[in-house]
Amino acid sequence: MTLQEQMTLEMQKAFEACGYDPSLGRVNLSNRPDLCEYQCNGALAAAKQAHKNPMEIAEAVAGKLEGSPLFETVQPVRPGFINLNASTAAVAALLRDIAADPDLGVEKTGAGRTAIIDYGGANVAKPLHVGHLRSAIIGESLKRLYGFMGYDAIGDVHLGDWGLQMGLVIEAVKDAQPDLPYFDESFAGDYPAEAPFTIADLEAIYPAASARAKTDEAFSARAHVATFRLQQGDRGYTALFQHVLNVSKADLKKNYDALDVHFELWKGESDVQPYIADMMADFERQGILKESEGARVIEVARPEDTKEIPPCLVQKSDGAYLYATTDLATIVEREKLYRPDEYCYVTDKRQNMHFEQVFRAAKLSGIVPEDRVLFHLGYGTMNGKDGKPFKTRSGGVLRLEYLLKDVIDAVYQRMAETDLPEEEKQKTAAIIGLAALKYGDLSNQATKDYVFDLERFSSFEGNTGPYVLYTVVRIRSILRKARELGIVAGEILPAAGSGEKELQMQLGRVSQTITDAFTEKAPHKLCQFIYELSNDFSAFYRDNHILKEDNKARQSSWISLLELTERELVTLCRLLGFDAPGRM
Ligand code: ARG
Repeated sequence: MTLQEQMTLEMQKAFEACGYDPSLGRVNLSNRPDLCEYQCNGALAAAKQAHKNPMEIAEAVAGKLEGSPLFETVQPVRPGFINLNASTAAVAALLRDIAADPDLGVEKTGAGRTAIIDYGGANVAKPLHVGHLRSAIIGESLKRLYGFMGYDAIGDVHLGDWGLQMGLVIEAVKDAQPDLPYFDESFAGDYPAEAPFTIADLEAIYPAASARAKTDEAFSARAHVATFRLQQGDRGYTALFQHVLNVSKADLKKNYDALDVHFELWKGESDVQPYIADMMADFERQGILKESEGARVIEVARPEDTKEIPPCLVQKSDGAYLYATTDLATIVEREKLYRPDEYCYVTDKRQNMHFEQVFRAAKLSGIVPEDRVLFHLGYGTMNGKDGKPFKTRSGGVLRLEYLLKDVIDAVYQRMAETDLPEEEKQKTAAIIGLAALKYGDLSNQATKDYVFDLERFSSFEGNTGPYVLYTVVRIRSILRKARELGIVAGEILPAAGSGEKELQMQLGRVSQTITDAFTEKAPHKLCQFIYELSNDFSAFYRDNHILKEDNKARQSSWISLLELTERELVTLCRLLGFDAPGRM
């Protein structure tokens, strides 16, 4: 139980003992941290109900708490607040519980539940863009949070592999290499196992084909036909499509690996096409398909809506299915194969309406039961310093590896003073660089736009990944020295040193922080926490000479505090998606 919860229980008893409704005894974090740590405002409400003087009630309640081991001070103040400070003994007891718990006191509310986290969302044959980078970074962190809460967390990259880009690539390959057997309709043999292009070719093919289609109408028309033929199952095109998929996937996997982003499932839009016909027939039977200018839609607006929710378009007038159709079919498949209790989608916020429509249609059509948790996190844009969506230096589309390399280089430059051997220095810069990139992203509230600021992200000072990792490394080195000196960890004692209570109180907030970050799908709360914890540690370490402390019990308690600090920092870094280096 958190301190706040423990205090609330005591306070409720005190209100009850004074003859008031116990629910008035809620204890909150203080909004005047300069005056007290916690506060209870229940006496004001009690006074209204009982037509009494609030100050008298506050005093009576405070009287009941005299001698409680939980509080250091219980102070009634005008007009009827009760200001509270936790006792150092209670804080230390809480920390002993947390330190003894492999889950840091977090209640595993997801145990026995399954969640699908749909993130990444790269499009096959098309280049990755910054939006995909954010989806990978945020989604990976959320997936790890789900896992920490006890869920069976399944990440699915859900590739965009079923659009016009396939037709464009097929037609471009046909123009360049017309003699390939994929284009020979009379070919009945086995197609080559080797792809007729490399990833580098593919990267050039798509943008060129896409640009050409904009001016060359005949080419564009051919691409549409090729897409259609592929979707109808043309044998040669399907074989060529498999090559595109394999070559693309291998490259994507490399990119995601470099980001320490990993998927349990490498499925894509193409995988769920077989479900569409049955699903549409079922919609038809239920009578939920409406004709709208030749197209077919499901109406999902509700009377209580405060903004307009347009119908969900599932089939165009030419018979083609759409993004929403595929997403609905994907839910059909996921229900069949995994029956997740929760779905979490991570895309750019411009897709907010799409997911609202899809979720409503999924419930309306009974693909999922009403109580299925369908959640979409729509994140903001990563902008450049000019305030426009981020572009690489060359101004072109983003190559993830270049971006990552830029960050790693920036970190490497800042490591000038380190005495690590060159090879370790490079490896370490790579670890810190990834943290700089991910922390730079995740420390912002996901739904907001933010500016990619290489300078700031790679700094070893301030609210950055490198600063937090630097703190971890520092603690590890102190612990190493302590071991060499034969100093061992011991029972955590009530705070006595300067800045120690602050550090202990912060350490005690870890479970609430993780739970809140999970519930609100807000990794930035983890960043906030580890930044504050790092600062609390630094202040504490500056003011207390741990290795020279004479009081052995105190010294051993401090070692335990350092161990817990390190463990909390590292656990939260892992939840954010990065590791700490051994040295730096
Ligand atoms: N491929 C999509 C894009 O690039 C993202 C896919 C997100 N997932 C989903 N189930 N729709 O925007």
